[in-house]
Parts: sequence; structure tokens; C-alpha cells
Amino acid sequence: MSTAKFPETIEAFAINKTGGFEVLEKLTLPFPKVEPGHLVIKVEWIGVNFIDTYYRQGLYPYTSFPAILGKETSGEIIALPTDPEVLNSPDFQRMEYKVGGKVAVDFLGTHSTYISVPWIKAYPITHGVSTRIAAAGLVQGLTALTFFEESYKVKKGDTILIHTVAGGLGLLMAQLGKHLGATVIGTTSTKEKAELAKAHGVDHVILYKEEDTVKRVLEITNGVGVEAVFDGVGKDTFESNFEMLRRKGTLVSVGNASGAVPPVSPLKLLPKNLKLLRPTMNNYLVTPDEAAYYGDKVFELISSGVLKINIFKEYPFTQEGGQQAQKDLTGGKTTGKLLIKVVQD
Ligand SMILES: NC(=O)c1ccc[n+]([C@@H]2O[C@H](COP(=O)([O-])OP(=O)(O)OC[C@H]3O[C@@H](n4cnc5c(N)ncnc54)[C@H](OP(=O)(O)O)[C@@H]3O)[C@@H](O)[C@H]2O)c1
Repeated sequence: MSTAKFPETIEAFAINKTGGFEVLEKLTLPFPKVEPGHLVIKVEWIGVNFIDTYYRQGLYPYTSFPAILGKETSGEIIALPTDPEVLNSPDFQRMEYKVGGKVAVDFLGTHSTYISVPWIKAYPITHGVSTRIAAAGLVQGLTALTFFEESYKVKKGDTILIHTVAGGLGLLMAQLGKHLGATVIGTTSTKEKAELAKAHGVDHVILYKEEDTVKRVLEITNGVGVEAVFDGVGKDTFESNFEMLRRKGTLVSVGNASGAVPPVSPLKLLPKNLKLLRPTMNNYLVTPDEAAYYGDKVFELISSGVLKINIFKEYPFTQEGGQQAQKDLTGGKTTGKLLIKVVQD
């Protein structure tokens, strides 16, 4: 496809090397290569995620530089794929993409003014959800949905523990857990965050800096432990999770907010026949059926109010704005979602 109708350059948050916040730059880069199976999208909103900081620091690797940061955006389709095989496939057609249609995207390297992405990575925004809310809810909403359906199937009567419960992902997991009929226990650092978590349905909030988390969880569960733990903290909380799980429980290692979990022996699972998973949402959204099912479901749950999207702050699309968002997120003071507005009204 010719890129003649597109601008020659884009503005993007990118890095030329891994490192501290200062390596995040706002760069002018060539318009991305448009493959025949790609949708081209003019970006309106950027969602900030913890994973952006892992890539910036080098915990997760980039293969070449400059590397565009970010994996969550929303905006308007400005060009459809040109590959006739794609255009004629029932999987593509059921998504009803059209020029001018709004989509939310989960694809690495998309914090920029224009993006070109494989069509399956763009979720049509349905059920009347705005592009602002879609950029705030897509990645964490899909993570909550897929992890509660596939990593551990949360069901009525379960008691589950969610670390970082007042964060972007945590608040969505808490609401989904309640919707599915579970009792939700969550950990967080401050009373203010605890109040927010309770307002989003969390049954028991543990202030882990003041209270003994293991003791409280065992008290709440009459010494039995929880069916599942969803742990986005990582290094600092990993070990104690084993004391809070019941026999045949499931530990879902969700992320590394405090650092990566060191290698672990399978023998650790033996005393209670536990299950341990370290999934990533992307690997649950690979086939067209998975994308169509979860994509529509996340917007339905947002639109119906089951998943209320809590936006912490909107940052400007400037180098300082990009750096500040990552500083705030890793500084542990935020609640809910951090957004960056790309298109000005
Ligand atoms: N596997 C996947 O596919 C996937 C997808 C999305 C997100 N995630 C993971 O889920 C976790 C939450 O992501 P999020 O974007 O929603 O972030 P977030 O929860 O909004 O922010 C991180 C929170 O982690 C807590 N925290 C605990 N120890 C920390 C430390 N040493 N440094 C910084 N924060 C610390 C803080 O909350 P308190 O004040 O309550 O301690 C902080 O606010 C991350 O680990 C992320 O990588 C994984």
C-alpha cells in the first residue's frame, strides 16, 4: 500500500536506549510501514500501563531503536487493509471495521499520533463507549476478563485475593470478582486507596504496611485460605502468597510492580497441590474468535456499568507529560487509570 495519503511523519513517545525516566522522549519519526493486513489509525487517546515502564527500563526487551513505547491507544480508522484475502475473510468481516470507525488497540509500539497495526489487534469500540474510556479500559479490562475466565475461573462462592487492588487493573478485577459472585479481599498501601477499593466493591481491604496480610487473610477465611491470588506486585509479595492459598488453590502471578519474581522450584507447589501461572493477557487474545469474544465483552461490561473506569489523571502529550505519567505510576501514588490525550479538541 502506498503511504502517499498519510503524513510523512508521526510524533511518538520513544526511547533510543533503555534506562531511567529521562530516556523517554517525544520524537518525530517516519510514518510507520503499512502492511497489507494492517489498519491505519489516527490516535486520540493513550492508556499508560506498568508494562510501558518495564520496556523503558529494559526488563522486557526491545530488539531495535528508536523503539516506540506503549501498547494501548484508541482512535479513528483512516485506512483499511488492502489484502483481498483479509478483506474477504469472515473473521475480518464480522468485526465491521470501516473508515471513520472507532477502535481501541492493544499492540506494542503504539504511543504515537498515527499507528499501523494488524487488524486483529484493533477492537471495534462497541456499546456506545467513548474513545477516552476505551483507552482507559481496554488493556486492564481484557486482562481482568481473561485472567478470571482462563487463568483461574472465578465463580460464585470463591474467596479471592487481589494485590494492588486500588490500581488500574486491581479496581477492574475487584468489580469483576464481585460481579461473578466472589468475596474479594484486596491489599493496598493507604487508607485513601482502601476507601476507593471499598467503593468499588472490595469486601475486605488489608493495609499491608500496617497489618499482617497473611494473618488477616487466614482470619477472614477461617484458616482455610483463598481459592486464588492475583498478584501484580511480584517480588515483594510472591513468597507469602503460598501461605494464604487453600489446598488446590491457584496463584496467578500477574506482574512485577516491585520487581521480577526470582526463579521458583515446582516443589513449592507440592504441600497443597497448588497451581502457579504467569500469564500475559496477549496470549489469551490470539485467534479471531478470542479477539471477537473478549473485545465485545469488555465494552459491554463497561457500558453496562459492571466495570466502572476510574481515571486518575490526564497528562499532556508532551515529553514531560509522558515522563511524569511513568513517574507517578511507578511512584505508587496513583489509583485507577492514567491517560494521555493526543488529539486536541
Ligand atoms: N500479565 C498481564 O498481562 C498484565 C496486564 C496488565 C497489568 N499487569 C500487571 O498488573 C500490575 C498492575 O498494573 P497497573 O497498570 O494496574 O498498575 P497499578 O496497580 O495502577 O499501579 C501499581 C501499584 O502497585 C503497588 N505497588 C506495590 N509495590 C510497589 C512498588 N515497589 N513500586 C510501585 N508500585 C508498587 C502500588 O499500589 P499500593 O499503593 O496499593 O501498594 C501501585 O500503585 C502490574 O504489575 C502490571 O505489570 C499485567
